[in-house]
Parts: sequence; C-alpha cells; structure tokens
Amino acid sequence: TDLSHIRNFSIVAHIDHGKSTLADRLIQLTGTVAERDMKEQLLDAMDIERERGITIKANSVRIEYPAKDGRTYTLNLIDTPGHVDFAYEVSRSMRAVEGSLLVVDATQGVEAQTLANVYTAIDADHEIVPVLNKIDLPAAEPERIAEQIEDVIGIDASDACLISAKTGIGIPDVLEAIVKRLPAPTGDRDAPLKAMLVDSWYDAYLGVVVMIRVMDGVIRKGDNILMMQTGARYGVDKLAVLRPKMTDIAELGPGEIGVLTASIKQVRDTRVGDTITHQKKPCDKPLPGFKPSQPVVFCGLFPVDNAEFEDLRTAIEKLALNDASFTYEMETSAALGFGFRCGFLGLLHLEVIRDRIEREYDIELITTAPSVVYKVHMRDGTEIELHNPADMPDPATVDHIDEPRIKATIMVPDEYLGDVLKLCQDRRGIQLDLTYAGARAMAVYDLPLNEVVFDFYDRLKSVTKGYASFDYQLYGYRTDNLVKMSVLVNEEPVDALSMMVHRDRAEMRGRAMCEKLKELIPRHMFKIPIQAAIGGRVIARETLSAMRKDVTAKCYGGDATRKKKLLEKQKAGKKKMRQFGKVDIPQEAFINALKMD
Ligand code: GTP
Repeated sequence: TDLSHIRNFSIVAHIDHGKSTLADRLIQLTGTVAERDMKEQLLDAMDIERERGITIKANSVRIEYPAKDGRTYTLNLIDTPGHVDFAYEVSRSMRAVEGSLLVVDATQGVEAQTLANVYTAIDADHEIVPVLNKIDLPAAEPERIAEQIEDVIGIDASDACLISAKTGIGIPDVLEAIVKRLPAPTGDRDAPLKAMLVDSWYDAYLGVVVMIRVMDGVIRKGDNILMMQTGARYGVDKLAVLRPKMTDIAELGPGEIGVLTASIKQVRDTRVGDTITHQKKPCDKPLPGFKPSQPVVFCGLFPVDNAEFEDLRTAIEKLALNDASFTYEMETSAALGFGFRCGFLGLLHLEVIRDRIEREYDIELITTAPSVVYKVHMRDGTEIELHNPADMPDPATVDHIDEPRIKATIMVPDEYLGDVLKLCQDRRGIQLDLTYAGARAMAVYDLPLNEVVFDFYDRLKSVTKGYASFDYQLYGYRTDNLVKMSVLVNEEPVDALSMMVHRDRAEMRGRAMCEKLKELIPRHMFKIPIQAAIGGRVIARETLSAMRKDVTAKCYGGDATRKKKLLEKQKAGKKKMRQFGKVDIPQEAFINALKMD
C-alpha cells in the first residue's frame, strides 16, 4: 500500500461519550461489515470482550474508505484501553498512530479522563480532530463545549465535527476529516524491519495474538522474528488484519497495522511497547520509551472456603494467561490459610480481577488491605521493596521509608469544589494547580497512593454526587513518616488487617478501624477486645460486649422447623466467617473495616 493512502488513528473519549458507537458507525458506513452481518459481528466482538476482560481492543479495525477526492484510503483505528490504570498501554498505542479523534459529549463537556488521554495524544505528536457528539440531544451545547475545549485543552476547536453517533448525522464529515486533516504515516520499506508490539491477547483457537504497527521494513508470514526487549525468537505462523474479523494478508509494510501469531505460549511472553525485528537482519536499535509494566498495588486474595484453594489457583492462572500486568504468588497467612499475594496496575484493575474471580469462577474471596509498594531503606544501607505490611522489618532496623505518590487530576462542578479540596487535603494531598473553565474547576493534586487505594473513588463520588471525574499517573517516590499498624482481635493479631499508615494519621485510622470492627464482628458468648497497635503500643481500643442469648432462644419451644431454619441460616453465615482464635470474623469486615468515612 502507498503510504499516502494510509491513515492511522485512535479515539480519545471519556467513558460514555460515545467512542464505541462512533467506531461502529465508521465501520458500518464504509461497508466494512455488511448491514446484515453487523449484529452478528458486534455480538462476536462482545464475546471477545468478555474473554479478554479489561485489555479490550475489540474495536481495533481496518477500514477501506473511498474518499471524495476519488482515492480509496486504508484507515486503521486502534482502540485504547479507557482505564486509568493502563496509562502506559495507552501511551504505547498512541505511538502506533499519527492522529486522534477527540470525542466529547456535547451535553457534558471535557472530563478528567478526556484530558489525560488527550495530553498523551499531544505528547505523541498527534494531529487531533475534535468531534462533538450527541448533537441530536436538546441539551447539546456545541458552541459552549467547543469553547471549553479551546480553554481547557488549548487546541483549535473552531472546525470541530458536529455529529450524532446514534443517528448518523455528521459521520461522513468525520471520515473526510480523518483523510484530510490527519497526516499519513512515514517509514522506509527498504530498511530492516522495525515494528511495535501494540497489544496482545489470548485466543482459545489461535493462542497468543499480537497486534503490531510496522514502522520500517516489511513482515511476511514465515519470517523469523526477534522481540528485542525480551530477546525471544519466534516464527510468524499467521499474519492478518482485523476487518474486524481476522483476515489473512501476505505482508505488512511501513505504516500498516495488523496481527500475527507465532506459537507464543503466554501473553506474559509479549510486552507492550517491545520492538519486533528480523532475526537475520535486525534493526540497529529498539523503539524508545519501552518499560515493562510494574504492579503498583498488592493485596492478598484468599478463598472464604479453604477447600476452594485449588479452584482459586486455576482461576488466577487462567486470568493471568490473558493479563500480563497481573502478578501472583502463593501466600500463607496465619489467620486466612492459603491464598495468593497478587499485584495489580491500580485499584480498578484489582477490582476488575476480584469481581471476575467471584462472578465467573464463583469463588467467594477475602481481600486483604490493598497495599502499595514501599521502598524500605535499612540502616545497613540495603533497600527492600515492601509488598505486604506483614513483611515489614523491625522498625529499629529501618532508616527511612519512601512511598509512591500520584499526580491526580480532578474535574468537578464549582459547587462541589470545596468538598473535593477538603478530601484531598485530608488525604495528605499537595495542591499543584487549580483552574476554572466555565462552571467547572480542575484541581491537580500530588497525593500519596496509599491514601487513594482504599476508598478515594467512592468518597469522591459521594461528595460530588457522581459529578467529578478523576484520573491519575504515578509521580515518583517520597520519604515520609510511615509506620505499620497492627490490629488485634481478642488479643490475637489479625495479619490480614495490618497496614502501613502515616504516623500523624495512625491514631485516627486505628480508632476508626476499631469502631468499624466493633460493628462488623457479631457478638460472641464472651467479651472481645479490639485493638490497634504500633509496635507493642496500643493506640486505640474498643470492646465488643458479650451476647446475652443465642438466636434460637427467641423461638417458642414447639416450633422445630423455625428453629431448624435459623440454625441453617447460622450455618450458611458461618461459612462466610473466618475464625481467629476463638473469634469468627465475617468476610465483609476485611473490606469494610478499611473504608474511612
Ligand atoms: P464505554 O464503552 O463505556 O467507554 O463508552 P463509550 O464512550 O464507548 O460510549 P458508547 O458508545 O457506549 O455510548 C454511551 C451511551 O451514549 C450509549 O447509551 C449510546 O447509545 C449513547 N450515545 C452515543 N452516541 C450518541 C449520540 O450521538 N446521541 C445520543 N442521544 N446518544 C448517544
């Protein structure tokens, strides 16, 4: 293909602003999928989505578009994950294309996620075409939103496309804008092969499928390739493009995007951002900016029912097959038995995996306090990466501890700004920037990640009635006064509840934790002290008083069936409890005890 006939692009949008609907329209209008196949195709795509979980690229597609200038263009749309935890993957897929459509809901305006992704696109030197969607709605205010785009993002929105992805208004203009306003890719066909690994996923029939963007050179079926960052060598079994169904193709040249298979066993063997070249005639250096994805949030996952440990192992192995950014290793806890210590790219990633294990594999889980990765500097000069508060060394041997910080961008209507600023302040945030655009404010904060991992999203949502949007990126490490807080129930330490906290906030957190646990742990036949401690020193304490009567005592002597029912209920409830010494703790307690109000 002649390079001047290729346009590669991605769509940047906040969730629900209409990215998928627009992609479907573009596919439909160019006849990539016949009308009668549309429904079937989309259903196929949904199956893939379900299988692939969160690294969905089901909307990546190659389109042939006959433009008004009489020439037919090949348009490649790459779908980017719309998930704050996948910032690195987004930045890589943006490097694989030359332009972006910036889709903004004309009734809503710019949101935090739009902003983060559009800046990633600008960093990747993209040409950006603003697209105002949902103009069919009476509440649409395209002029105001165009102004907002100029004010907040600083790009020209005077010739934005006004569309309704739902009704189809304006879609032909979008296709013309892609051809006219986005640049064609460049590349040297005669140079050694240099291709970027953009994404990969596990397909039940084909094994690992790798999406690539060719920069220079040509790749063909049967070629022997080298992944430059991992050093792995493979033979290309299959080369194809997505229309959106996989369609075999003889070769891919510069500027082209497609997929290959090469008998790769696990998604883990492929790294987003890696450079693919030929074994015989490699390119001289890999593409810049590669970084292996590192989990930043860790927590323990334990089966509520110990007998389900092997099922949990199977579930975790299966999920990891398709998600290279999720790590796990076996963990044993005195209180919880056998489980796994798992690493995630962020809190949403954690929630998605946890939900999938519970829903798709039907395993009830106890999730321990999420912890970030601390850098513990020892007095003897060594450094430890702490993934689990339970592994915290004796404080007397520790010199100082560094914690990860994030740069958070929050967009919120004015009337809720005060509450948002207070929330950030309460979480040890440092304000970096505060600007206004119309009736919305944008606050940028430097926040400790450990203050965000518990319930920051929930709190933000509740203080702003759902009107705030949030995005973050990692911002580096900083030394702070951090200590390990242990929790003791009936004098027994519950390792799953121990956590790292800032010294100044330890007492408050300890008190809140004890009060919460007092509500969450059912009464027993005896009195139960609940304590929070730093080292050997108790900093907070509550006492759960003893139960007076057992449940069945409420029944009149004769009602045997009711008595039996209650006992069955008790038994079912028991299964969801974990015994700590003599005390049963319900599983909700582990999650809820960590939430702060
Ligand atoms: P995620 O897939 O959740 O990231 O959202 P998205 O950005 O892909 O948005 P999606 O295309 O799923 O659209 C979100 C909702 O807006 C859906 O209910 C669409 O039917 C609706 N929608 C999309 N475009 C339009 C439009 O032009 N007009 C109207 N009225 N509704 C639209």
